Amino acid sequence: MLTSTEQETLSTLEHMPEHVAIIMDGNGRWARARNMPRTYGHQAGLESLRATLRAASDFGISILTVYAFSTENWGRPSAEVTAIMTIFEYALISEIPELMRNGVRVRHLGREAGLQPSLVQKLHRIAAETANNARITLNLALNYGGRVELIDAFRQMLADGVAPEAVSEELVNRYLGTAGQPDPDLIIRTAGEMRLSNFLVWQSAYSEYYSTPVFWPDFNREELLKALVAFQQRKRRFGKLDSSVATSGA
Ligand code: IPE
Ligand code: IPE
Ligand code: MG
Repeated sequence: MLTSTEQETLSTLEHMPEHVAIIMDGNGRWARARNMPRTYGHQAGLESLRATLRAASDFGISILTVYAFSTENWGRPSAEVTAIMTIFEYALISEIPELMRNGVRVRHLGREAGLQPSLVQKLHRIAAETANNARITLNLALNYGGRVELIDAFRQMLADGVAPEAVSEELVNRYLGTAGQPDPDLIIRTAGEMRLSNFLVWQSAYSEYYSTPVFWPDFNREELLKALVAFQQRKRRFGKLDSSVATSGA
C-alpha cells in the first residue's frame, strides 16, 4: 500500500531502478547512542529490513540485495557473531509467512561453507519455499564477500574445464551468485561510510552510489524514497557521451 505522498513522489520518477542493493550499516552505532549493546542494534536492523523490503516491493523494485554479514565480519567478537547468527536463524523461520504473503522470493548470496549447518538448512528451505514468488526477489548476502565470490567463480570455471578464450563478461556473470540477474542500478549505504566493504565487487562496476548518514535501524520507506529521488539526478553514461545515451535510468 502506498500513501498519497508516496504515490505523488513516485509519479514524478522517470527512472525506477530495477535492482537496488543496500549496505545495511550502523546497527552498532545506533545501539551505542542509546546506551544499549550492539546486538540490540542488530535486532532493530531486522525490523528495518522488513519495512524496507515491503517498501521496495510497493515502489516497484524487482530485486533488493542486502548485505547482512560479510566474510570479514567473522573477525568480530564471537559473542556478537553468535548473536547475529541467532537473529538469522530466528528470522529465516519467523518471516516465512510474511514473505509468502508479499510474494518475496529469497535467494542466498555467499558461501555456505563456514555457516552453521542448521543455518544452511534454513537458507535452503526458505529458498525452496519462496521459489515461485514473483513480486520481488530478496538476495540475502550472508557470509558474502565480493572477492570470495569471484574466487569461487574462477575455481568452478577451472573445474568445469572452461577454455581461456571462452571467458567473457557473460560467462563470469553466470558463475556468480547473482547469475541471471541484472547488475544493481543503485547501491545505498547507510551510516555515512563511503566504501563498498567487499560488496558486489564485480556487479557494481556501473552502479550509482547513494550514501546517507542515517543508521540502518532508522532507515525506512521515506529514506528509500529519498534515495530513489536522488537516483533521478544521475546521468548514467556507461562510458559513452550524454548525447548517445537516451535515458539516465535503467
Ligand atoms: C551493520 O552494522 C551490521 C553488520 C555488519 C552485521 P554494524 O554492526 O557494522 O554497525 P556499526 O557500523 O558498527 O555501527
Ligand atoms: C559492511 O559493514 C558489511 C555489512 C553491512 C554486512 P561493515 O561495518 O562490516 O564494514 P566496514 O568494516 O565499516 O568496512
Ligand atoms: Mg559497520
